[in-house]
Amino acid sequence: MKFFIDTANLAQIKEAHDLGVLDGVTTNPSLMAKEGIKGEEAVMKHYMAICELVDGDVSAEVIATDYENIIREGEALAAMHPQIVVKVPMIKDGIKAIKYFSDKGIRTNCTLVFSTGQALLAAKAGATYVSPFIGRLDDISSNGVGLIQEIVDMYQYYGFETQVLAASIRHTQHIIDCVKAGADVATCPLDSILGLLNHPLTDIGLAKFLSDHQQVNS
Ligand code: G3P
Repeated sequence: MKFFIDTANLAQIKEAHDLGVLDGVTTNPSLMAKEGIKGEEAVMKHYMAICELVDGDVSAEVIATDYENIIREGEALAAMHPQIVVKVPMIKDGIKAIKYFSDKGIRTNCTLVFSTGQALLAAKAGATYVSPFIGRLDDISSNGVGLIQEIVDMYQYYGFETQVLAASIRHTQHIIDCVKAGADVATCPLDSILGLLNHPLTDIGLAKFLSDHQQVNS
């Protein structure tokens, strides 16, 4: 299972990268805005800075919602750096654009996916990744992880190569549930990744090891 970090914050990306387990980064317009990145030039510069920090895939989202401009923006993003994956919303023109990019060998991440039917379209269009938003489904009393399971099963049954990238992860247990559901990737906030480190028995065990060591070595 691959780990991506879901942020545009360079310090957090660096912290996750330094842990040695990071496979990539996802961003979106909200996450870029949160970092105060505005204007096309600043956005491009920020994507370059992220690509220089990490080794894996970096999802960069188009703003356009019409076919011609999705293609124009996506081609510019993909040309910027080989690590860039063009993130395209799950809309009619987005699906057409994903098919175009796929035919051209440009990798894509189909975002804002909330149903198995949408995931089917993304896979048929040739998306590299599909991003079901599990936290936002849970927010409306729907089953986010259940959707991951359904999509994983469907892709396996039909042999689709699109990777299931669980997004909108809100906490550490979401990551564990996505592992159990067979997601290919989880894109997570830094805190959720760091939460995987924690277990009270680890803390108790380590304290005992250190105190036993101290006792005979002092
Ligand atoms: O990857 C999508 C993610 O950034 C959305 O997360 O918490 O805004 O639903 P959230």
